[in-house]
Amino acid sequence: MPSLLSVNVGMPTNVPWQGRTIYTGVWKYPVHGPVMARRLNLDGDGQGDTAGHGGEQRAVLVYQIDSYRYWQRHLGRDDLEYGQFGENLTVDGLADDEVCIGDRYRIGEAEFEVTQPRVTCYRVGLRMGEPSLPALLVSHHRPGFYMRVLREGRIQAGEDVIKIASGPGELSVAEADALLYLPDRDIEKLHRAVRIPAMSPGWLSSFRGLLAAAEHEGTAAETGKGEPAWEGFKGLRVAAVVQETATVRSIQLAAPDGSRLPPARGGQHLTLRVPGAGDPAPIRSYSLSSATGDGRYRISVKHEPRGLASTYLTTKLRPGALVDVAAPRGDFVLHPGTAPVLLVSAGIGLTPVLAMLHELSASRSEREVWWIHSARSAQEHPLAAEAHALVGSLPHAREFIFYSAAAPTSKTAGGGIVHGRLSKEAVIALGVPHDATAYVCGPASFMTDAKDALSAAGVDPSAVHTELFGAMSAITPGLREHSGRRPHQPPGPPDTGPVVTFARSGISTPFPETGSSLLELAEACDVPVRWSCRTGVCHTCVTSLLTGDVAYGTTPLEAPADGEVLICCARPDSDVVLDM
Ligand code: FES
Repeated sequence: MPSLLSVNVGMPTNVPWQGRTIYTGVWKYPVHGPVMARRLNLDGDGQGDTAGHGGEQRAVLVYQIDSYRYWQRHLGRDDLEYGQFGENLTVDGLADDEVCIGDRYRIGEAEFEVTQPRVTCYRVGLRMGEPSLPALLVSHHRPGFYMRVLREGRIQAGEDVIKIASGPGELSVAEADALLYLPDRDIEKLHRAVRIPAMSPGWLSSFRGLLAAAEHEGTAAETGKGEPAWEGFKGLRVAAVVQETATVRSIQLAAPDGSRLPPARGGQHLTLRVPGAGDPAPIRSYSLSSATGDGRYRISVKHEPRGLASTYLTTKLRPGALVDVAAPRGDFVLHPGTAPVLLVSAGIGLTPVLAMLHELSASRSEREVWWIHSARSAQEHPLAAEAHALVGSLPHAREFIFYSAAAPTSKTAGGGIVHGRLSKEAVIALGVPHDATAYVCGPASFMTDAKDALSAAGVDPSAVHTELFGAMSAITPGLREHSGRRPHQPPGPPDTGPVVTFARSGISTPFPETGSSLLELAEACDVPVRWSCRTGVCHTCVTSLLTGDVAYGTTPLEAPADGEVLICCARPDSDVVLDM
């Protein structure tokens, strides 16, 4: 009979890590006597990063003593104590390859249900002093698992763990973990995984995505995650330059030989290397403002007084010039379906959603479409007539234009020009449909406000998709402080390694002699980064590699697709350009 060896709890605290501060609850310690297991937590327990840990589906983390013994041998450690793997319950029995998602157990007065394997996260490696542990837990098939609390009650070390029901689907914790994180997925198991009612919604959604990708060839094109149309950069000719406002120019790009360029999706972006704008030529990314399949691409660039590339593109670039362009990329694209579409933008952030509006118009979409844009004034509102005409071409579309520099009015009914800010109250007053899918682009503060406003207006936050103008939004679980600084050169004198270019952030810098990963270099430059495990397992850090070669220090458990790199464990082998 399996038994409960130890109940471990710990509240989150600030922990120093690589010169930064992490707020984490991974330090758990044994409790003597009974402990109340509640729907969200054990009494006395807490999590620092509730986006990644805790909550109803992940109320209790379980790890078995047999795995302790295994790691003692594997890591040559004799100092492991209960709670060391961040688990709440240390158990004898309940091996990961025997326990199935949906299994139910009674311990003391409480009842539990298994919901998912452990979340792969760097913090268990931090706790153990073994940075590679997140990858080892997956590759050695010993992750541990989470349970939800079905019936609250007291539990205590020494009690039996009694199985009261078997999960339908018979998918073990080790199988579920491998299904998400390891290559060569078994489609039959994916089918089983998505039918298990107890599977946590987060893992269910990941499995559904994997199943869709495996089964539908069209998915790559629909999601924008397909192979880029060409590798690296190729020369495109400037076919036309149009002054849209005093500060915004549209640039049309065509193949030099007159052939049609491969189609792109509305919402995707191009990365340009701009000879003539500097030495070395600066590399920057710009959203397509039109991608209607006419065999040409169009970007619309705002002049930034201190921007090397934008100044050149908006003042000096002439038709006939050649620029180096990487293929369209990005998964900020329209999702298929019939739900209403909200296209929400501010300033020059209108470009990707304008390309989506083109796409909807070109396909004669019957969907309900709301075009909501904020500009300072009509004079600073590029492509207004074009967007207005596109809205007019759709049978169920309306537009709301907010001019923030004008005196406020409350006129919103029926659409048109609204004088005043696109505030939360204004968004609520529009009466947007609650079942809409929203696509939002603009400066960072606008994005935050717009997401809040749409949520307050009744739109499901999971249906709000954003494209941070410029760099991507960061994912840095548990990190306490954000510098808030714009991307910059790393501290210290320049090094002599291969040049790393962060294209969206406009930074090029040599890789340091002593550097360990592209991720750490990006962090030193305050380039927004995304990561979770930092050991090549979770793919949170996956980034498009526009040009160049990399080598992996730690081999990823599943290699990224061609043209992508896991920056947490990669170093450059040559000059590289990254889409970040
Ligand atoms: S952060 Fe998990 S693979 Fe890089």
